[in-house]
Amino acid sequence: MAARWALSAGAAWARGLLSWAQPERWLPSGSLFPLSCLHTSTSLQRIGKWEKKNRIVYPPQLPGEPRRPAEIYHCRREIKYSKDKMWYLAKLIKGMSIDQALAQLEFSDKKGAKVIKEVLLEAQEMAVRKHNVEFKSNLHIAESQTGRGRYVKRLRCHGKGMFGMMKISRCHYFVKLVEGPPPPPEPPRTGFEQAKEYVQQLRNRTLVHTL
Ligand SMILES: *[C@@H]1O[C@H](CO)[C@@H](O)[C@H](O)[C@H]1NC(C)=O
Repeated sequence: MAARWALSAGAAWARGLLSWAQPERWLPSGSLFPLSCLHTSTSLQRIGKWEKKNRIVYPPQLPGEPRRPAEIYHCRREIKYSKDKMWYLAKLIKGMSIDQALAQLEFSDKKGAKVIKEVLLEAQEMAVRKHNVEFKSNLHIAESQTGRGRYVKRLRCHGKGMFGMMKISRCHYFVKLVEGPPPPPEPPRTGFEQAKEYVQQLRNRTLVHTL
């Protein structure tokens, strides 16, 4: 189809005109037609479920109640890294105070550590600027998760006309910061406690159509 197009002289002329009339050539960016007058940033940005949680509005508190800690949801999507490698870093910092998490990531030489550190610093800045948090060190990591991004397949050329497929992996990283020091870690559950809970679950069942 491309060859037929090239053969036709009229089409070639039209193509020449089109390539001459490239908008970026006769509209130098920013001078004649500034893009800033069009809403291209915020309105077109897809806002995900995780970021939408920042908009939760709780009912007013009663006079005697302790102050509700601030919650900050932040994430970064489509990171060029494997979700499985990111998982180890995400679980490493879960339940730490923000300063300790930043220190741990600082001295990790994985690629994802740098990305997570950036996301944490962004979230910390958001906390102070938007969420009415007084001290930026008074935060802990309540949730830290990874997600699978879009995977694309690419051809990997080998010798002698052979090829392989490679997967370009991307991942998401989600974090929830909560104001205050981190809660003490839960004691590990023993097998006996788990068994007791299982038996209780079995006893809780309702058998219908029986005596
Ligand atoms: C079983 O039922 C009791 C009372 O309704 C409830 O407190 C308990 O959490 C239930 N246990 C499980 C394992 O579902």
